[in-house]
Formats: sequence, C-alpha cells, structure tokens
Amino acid sequence: MTSLPFPFPVVRWQQDHVVLIDQTLLPGRTEFRHCRTIDQLCRAITELAVRGAPAIGVAAGYGMVLSWSLAMAAAGDQEGMRKRFAADRRALAATRPTAVNLFWALDRMDARAHALWTGGEPPAGVLAGLLAEADAILAEDIAMCRGMGRAGQELLPDGATVLTHCNAGGLATGGYGTAVGVVYAAREAGKKITVFADETRPLLQGARLTAWELVDQGIPVTVLCEGAAASALRAGLIDAVITGADRIAANGDTANKIGTYPLAVLARRHEVPFYVAAPASTFDGATTSGAGIPIELRDPDEVRAWCGVPSVPAGADAWNPAFDVTPFELITAYITEHGVVRPPFPPELLGTGGC
Ligand code: MRU
Repeated sequence: MTSLPFPFPVVRWQQDHVVLIDQTLLPGRTEFRHCRTIDQLCRAITELAVRGAPAIGVAAGYGMVLSWSLAMAAAGDQEGMRKRFAADRRALAATRPTAVNLFWALDRMDARAHALWTGGEPPAGVLAGLLAEADAILAEDIAMCRGMGRAGQELLPDGATVLTHCNAGGLATGGYGTAVGVVYAAREAGKKITVFADETRPLLQGARLTAWELVDQGIPVTVLCEGAAASALRAGLIDAVITGADRIAANGDTANKIGTYPLAVLARRHEVPFYVAAPASTFDGATTSGAGIPIELRDPDEVRAWCGVPSVPAGADAWNPAFDVTPFELITAYITEHGVVRPPFPPELLGTGGC
C-alpha cells in the first residue's frame, strides 16, 4: 500500500491541468488521474474518481481554471472565451446533482470571473485570479475541516469507538476530512479512537476508501457490512455515529450516502448519538427541507455487478439511488467549523451554500 502525504493531495492544479487521486483504483492502486480537458474532468466526477461533496467542490473550482486556460490556448476573442467558460460551467454542473458544494464552488468561481472581467483584467490576469480563487477554496476547505475536527473531537471521550458510513475522510475533501477529520483531530488531541466503517454498498466507499486512509494513518479500523450496524449498536460496541453530508437543507434535513438514514434510525433506537459533520459550503439555505434536495439515481449495473462480474441474475431490475435524506429529528447535532450546532442554524451557515 503506497502512503501519501497528509492532508491527502486529493485534487491539485499542476501547471496547466487538474490532477486527482483516482479513487476508483483504491485500495489496490494509488494512482493519479490527469484531467487536461473539461470532458475528462466531468468523467472523473461522474465515475467517482473524485467524489465526496467538498472534494467535488474543489475539483469544480480547478475545473473553471482549466476552462479559462483552454479558452486562452484556443486564442479566440474575449466574447468566445466567456461563452466557452459558461458552457464548461454548465457541463460541470450537470455531473452530479446532490452535493451542493459543486454548485457553491461554481457560483464562487463565476462571481470571481465576472469581477475580473468587469475590472478590465486581461485574460492572463483572469487566469491568475481564478487560480487564486480555486486555491483559496482548497485551503479554506482544509481549514474548515480542521476547525470542525477541533469542535467535534470534544464530543468523543478517550477510547471511544465511532461508526461511520461511506467515506467522509480526507479523500472526500481537500485532504483532511469531515466525519473522519473529527477522528484525526481527536488523535491530535491525544485520544485513542477506534473506527467501525460501514462497507457502503454498492461502491464500497467505506471498505475501500475510509479503511484505506485510516490504515494509512495508523488508526484502528474495522469494516462491517452495513447490515451488521444494528448488531454492533445493540452489542454496545459503538459510542457515536458520525457521517458527512452532501447537502443540508435549512431545516437540518441531511442528504448523504444511501444507507445513512437507516443508520440514524438505528442510532436513535439504541440511544447512541448521531452526528453530521459538514462545512458551511454543504449547508443550502435556499432549500427549506429535504423534500427539495435532488437525489442522484445511478446506473443499476452498479448494483447488478461487481468489477464486471454479475451478482444479480439477468432479468432482475435494480434501483440505485446514491443518497438518502435523514430527517433532522434523528440528528443529535451538526459538527461545523462554527462549532457544534442544532437548527435553527446561524446565518454564517445558511448564507453560503445553495444554488
Ligand atoms: O457518492 P459519493 O462517494 O460522492 O458520496 C459521498 C458521501 O456521501 C459523503 O459522505 C459526503 O459527500 C460527505 S464527504 C465529506
């Protein structure tokens, strides 16, 4: 297993293109995917080579840098370059509908571009400004994750065992992690924390990615099928459940990886606290409740086969929603860079996200 620097270099700008850790290959191979066109970057997002709400936002930021850099290389007029920028923005926005960080980052890059155009910046100045903005999105994400880690680790006693779902770790963010970032922060505070990682059907982000990064970081991790979570909770093996989020509506309803909602029901049944860890960029003040959150439906073949080998008989259909919505009543508290909060949320959380 190849170790990487920490915070993990999940998405980076390299000279003239976007480089990302190819998460479809983990845990078997640690390789980087180089995206030199918007089409390649869009495919990296839809194929989940880069995934996790904050990491998608960071990738979108650098995607808009790539768009402008390609427009400059094509040497058209300013009007044509702006049209191309708008078209690339639409292509990136069409990749995945649920994680609000994608739209948040695209809006932010668009606003920066308009400010630069209006200020009369030449194309090279626009490129420098866009790169600075994308770098800021990345740096702020790591800072927000460290902030929520510091706030969240206070909730965990030394020796606690945390159950998490999917991957809300360094790989899902700018490099540090939200739910798993809380575990890293607890370690930095000198606590010994053990993690139970739901394997997370159908694409196994928990087994492949959360377990990979925790092993890499030397934190004890036990993988379980999500069907085993009820038994782990009933056996008293779990002190807290912490998950990430793809979008949090104004009332606190939270979209996250499919299987999060049943976990919240189970945690309530067994009187174990259920926390959601997310930065301000994941809060969507424009969406009043979970009913307004678009849920991505993915290819049924992700359920019907694994690595090309059928696991379901031909002729059987499959349903593959990528996310579910956990009602706010089941969420004990939200761990954010602004502290541990409950709805109604403060304006600094509701003012930034949203489409
Ligand atoms: O389909 P994915 O792998 O992008 O889903 C990711 C999740 O559901 C994460 O829990 C969420 O994005 C939070 S990541 C900090």
